Amino acid sequence: MLRIGNTEFRHGLILAPLAGVTDTYFRRICKSFGAELVCSEMVSSEGVKRRMARSMEYLNFCDEERPISIQIFGSSPESMKEAAKIIETDFHPDVIDINLGCPVKKVIKTGAGAALLKDTKKMEDVVNSVVSSVNTPVSAKIRVGWDKDNSLEISKVLEGCGICFLTVHARRACDNYSVKADWSVYKDIMNNISIPLVANGDITRPEDVMYLRDDMGVDAVMIGRGALGRPWIFKMIKDLIENGRLREEPLMNEKIEVFLKQIELMKENIGKERTVGRLKKHVVYYLKGFTTSKDIIHEILISKKLEEIISLISNIIVEQ
Ligand SMILES: Cc1cc2nc3c(=O)[nH]c(=O)nc-3n(C[C@H](O)[C@H](O)[C@H](O)COP(=O)(O)O)c2cc1C
Repeated sequence: MLRIGNTEFRHGLILAPLAGVTDTYFRRICKSFGAELVCSEMVSSEGVKRRMARSMEYLNFCDEERPISIQIFGSSPESMKEAAKIIETDFHPDVIDINLGCPVKKVIKTGAGAALLKDTKKMEDVVNSVVSSVNTPVSAKIRVGWDKDNSLEISKVLEGCGICFLTVHARRACDNYSVKADWSVYKDIMNNISIPLVANGDITRPEDVMYLRDDMGVDAVMIGRGALGRPWIFKMIKDLIENGRLREEPLMNEKIEVFLKQIELMKENIGKERTVGRLKKHVVYYLKGFTTSKDIIHEILISKKLEEIISLISNIIVEQ
C-alpha cells in the first residue's frame, strides 16, 4: 500500500499529470469520484523561480484537492531547488514530483524531463538538490529509459536520493503511444527497490488495476488518458476493489451532467471567456461515443459563447 507520511492511499488511485488538462477543475471532479492523489500539470522550475504568472497559476489548488502533488521539471539543480522551495513555502503541497519522463522537444532540448534519463549523474544531482532543500516528500516520475530499458539502474539511483515513491511510465522515451506500455518491467524494479512503486501507462480498465495490484503487486496505479472525459473511472475501480462488482460506464446523460458540473466550476472561477477556451480540451473526450457527437463537437469547437456551448451540451440530454 502507498503511504506518504501519515497518509495512507487505501486503493492507490492516482490521477496522472496531464499538461493542459489536469487543472484544478478537472482534478476536483476526479477527486469527487475517488482519485486519492491528484497531480498538477508539469510546471517549469525556471518559470516558478522567476515567478512568471503562467507558471504560478499552474500551482494553484484548493484544499478539497488534498492530498495533491505538484510536478516540476527542469535541468538545473539550482533552479529546481529554488522552485521547490517557493512551492513548499507558498503553496504547501503534500508531495513535490520531479518530471523525468517528458519526451516533448521543448522540454528535452533544455536537458529536462526524459533527457535526464540519459545522464544518470545529472539526474541524481537534480533530484538530490530538490530532496535536500525541502521538507515536503519528493517523488519522481520516469519512463523506463531513453532508448533502452535501464529502469533498474535509474530506480536504484532515485531510491538512493530519498524519494518517497517512484512512478514508472512503462515505455521508453523514444516510444510513442502506439507502442504498448510494458507492465512486465515492474516485477524486476520491485525486487530491487524498497520504496513504493506506482504503475503508469495504458491503465484504462478496472480489471487492469486488479491485475497490477493483485497479480503484479504494485503499490498504486496512476491513470492519465483513461480518465479523460471519464473521471468516474476512479469510482468504477473502487467498486470493483470494494464490492467485486464491475460497473458499466455511466449513461450519456450522467456523463453530460459531470461535464456541465466541470464547466460550472470553471465559470465560477475563471469567468466565461477563459472557460470557453479551456473546456474545448475536454469536449471530444466527454462526448465520445454519442451518435451525433461529431456535428455537436464541431459546433462547440467553433463557438465563442459559453451560453451557446452549454445549451448545445444540455440539449444532448434532452435528445436522449
Ligand atoms: C496530453 C498529455 C499531457 C501530459 N502531460 C504530462 C505532464 O505534465 N507530466 C508528466 O509527467 N506526464 C505527462 N503526460 C504523461 C502522462 O502523465 C502519462 O505518463 C502517460 O499518458 C501514460 O499514462 P496513460 O496511458 O494513463 O495516459 C502527459 C500525457 C498526455 C497525453
